[in-house]
Amino acid sequence: MMNKKTVRDVDVKGKRVLVRCDFNVPMKDGVITDENRILGALPTIEYLLDAGAKVTLCSHMGKPHSILSAEVKLNKKDKKKVEAGETTAEAIIEKAKKDEPKKLTLAPVAKRLNELLGGKVTFATDVIGKDANAKRSALKEGEAVLLENLRFHWEEEGKDESFCKALAYDAEVYVNDAFGTAHRSHASTAAIVEYGIIKTAVCGFLIEKELSVMGATIENPPRPFVAILGGAKVADKLNVISNLLEKCDTLIIGGGMAYTFLKAKGYEVGTSLLDEEKIGYCKDMIDKAAKMGKELVLPIDTVTTSHFPEPIDAAIDVKTVPSDQIPADRMGMDIGEKTRKLYAEKVAGAKAVVWNGPMGVFENPTLAKGTIAVAQALADVYGKCTTIIGGGDSAAAVKQLGFADKMSHISTGGGASLEYLEGKVLPGIACLNDK
Ligand code: 3PG
Ligand code: MG
Repeated sequence: MMNKKTVRDVDVKGKRVLVRCDFNVPMKDGVITDENRILGALPTIEYLLDAGAKVTLCSHMGKPHSILSAEVKLNKKDKKKVEAGETTAEAIIEKAKKDEPKKLTLAPVAKRLNELLGGKVTFATDVIGKDANAKRSALKEGEAVLLENLRFHWEEEGKDESFCKALAYDAEVYVNDAFGTAHRSHASTAAIVEYGIIKTAVCGFLIEKELSVMGATIENPPRPFVAILGGAKVADKLNVISNLLEKCDTLIIGGGMAYTFLKAKGYEVGTSLLDEEKIGYCKDMIDKAAKMGKELVLPIDTVTTSHFPEPIDAAIDVKTVPSDQIPADRMGMDIGEKTRKLYAEKVAGAKAVVWNGPMGVFENPTLAKGTIAVAQALADVYGKCTTIIGGGDSAAAVKQLGFADKMSHISTGGGASLEYLEGKVLPGIACLNDK
């Protein structure tokens, strides 16, 4: 199915190998709070070290400013703030230079990798500077160095060619194992190969696994195959709704985007999140499902509140109503009890389930019940059904709830798995050598 070469297809003994990983892990006060992406990258790194490669690891972390570039560039958000007179470019840059070296450094990741890999990993405090180059030159077979945050250079997202050359440095082989960032076309994820700077370019075991598990389920699913989509906006999931509808037997909709579907059926949705412009699209999807003989399942009851909780986890009064009777002054915030039961029944009857997106405002304990119920339903079929969590918020929810080891596969990609489920070609994979 996957026609791209993997690390198994190249000889790496004694070779200098540049590996793009996705170490963009959640951190709180310098502590890594979820190391799934680090653990996911280990098989490839261990393989390369055991095979006698000299390994340079690289990744981005968060969305920093280009504090290591000759020129610090402002992002769109900053520019708006400056235009609005809220602050100045100098103040933004000064703050970034002060905070980001501590907040968005990959140093904690290097430390953790070094623990996991028995003292074989060092850290470079820059990306294409003196420290990185000295440490890369000094690598012996079976040793690795992790470079500092790639996005400390605007040239990473800017696909700057001389940056690509400097990043390649002396590498003879490029390995992409950053599944979570494979939907981005940046210097380290695609351009370094597209410009012909490193010609031998293969994928690692994490990308191989993500694609084979998700690909097999999407293309040749055990049936019934149920897809569950949630999350806030229909607009973010247009293609995934349409693509999954073609592949699955039952498409279940929850979360904020359900209200646009309910509106498309002619129901009042009160002050719920509504994507006015997408009502027509939802009608088309309802028709498409009917024509294809697919089941499109919408919430039958809805948990409503009078307002959005502020802060998001504040205590809040709720009232559950039938989904075709949401009062004009109330907003839908979660799927109701009858819907939870209905969705659990659909999951219980399935042989494969793909889930992406929460069912309600799960950051609030009162409004998390729908998301918990879906996670529980998936955990309950463990061993009898292939269950795939398409990353992002649903992966976080499953882990928070302690169900992580009750799922067949939890993707390390959020946006990347969504784009994969849409049927899109991911630039980080397209650029690699064919088999
Ligand atoms: C992610 O966590 O979504 C990936 O690491 C990609 O990061 P990005 O969305 O900032 O490009
Ligand atoms: Mg993202």
